Amino acid sequence: MVTENSEVKAPALLQASNLSRKDPLNGHFLLHPADCHIRRGDRIVLSGASGSGKSVFVRTLALLDQPDAGELILYGKPVQPADACRYRAQVAYIRQSPVLMQTSVEGNLTFPFCLAVNKNKKYDRQKIERFLQAIDRPNTFLDKDGSTLSGGEKQLVCLLRVLQLDPCLLLLDEPTSALDESTAQLVEKLIEHWMQVNKQQTATLWISHDEQQKARVGNRVWQMKSGQLTTDETAGRQK
Ligand SMILES: Nc1ncnc2c1ncn2[C@@H]1O[C@H](COP(=O)(O)OP(=O)(O)OP(=O)(O)O)[C@@H](O)[C@H]1O
Ligand SMILES: [Mg+2]
Repeated sequence: MVTENSEVKAPALLQASNLSRKDPLNGHFLLHPADCHIRRGDRIVLSGASGSGKSVFVRTLALLDQPDAGELILYGKPVQPADACRYRAQVAYIRQSPVLMQTSVEGNLTFPFCLAVNKNKKYDRQKIERFLQAIDRPNTFLDKDGSTLSGGEKQLVCLLRVLQLDPCLLLLDEPTSALDESTAQLVEKLIEHWMQVNKQQTATLWISHDEQQKARVGNRVWQMKSGQLTTDETAGRQK
């Protein structure tokens, strides 16, 4: 159990304070002011009923949806609006339905290196081959046409495309909800491999409705209810 004392001492990978988002049409809170700490090595699962605001929260945390108020602090430094692009490369959001370009798997993997935000990074085929080994895929998988892949394979390619860029936090918005059990576990295996390669210095936040998956991928549990976030640190204090 985390005490308030150790909470203060633990170096937060990402901290959010008073992060909120409102419906632009009527000004109602979609995300009530939320506080949270994510530490290196955390595997957080976010639970909550459909429509409770889990995706709104995670998209706001990823700065894909603009917060109306609040602060994000990455490795102790407040994130400024001008940092948003670089921030999104570090705090990566994976959605339920993968989107690939109509080219080979390897073409999809090399594409991010054309973007200005990755100008200092280089495509590393050996690194990709090690990821493929972890999920028992041959290197010839890289030659496949992205548009002919199954939904599960597309999700794996989307993950590879993100993981190769060394994010520090993965925000996973039901990435396996459309996949069968064995493919879902392959996705979990790939993410676990990434955590191990990074020696537990990275973290994951999973949204999942699957209780068995939540038990496999989580060591902290947060709850979302009607746009209100309860973390495992705040749970005792709010009630
Ligand atoms: N851009 C937006 N503008 C207005 N309302 C929105 C917007 N995005 C989401 N909402 C609303 O916010 C609420 C929470 O939606 P959200 O997608 O976060 O739910 P969720 O918890 O992820 O549900 P599920 O488990 O079904 O994915 C819903 O009522 C939704 O209609
Ligand atoms: Mg959702």
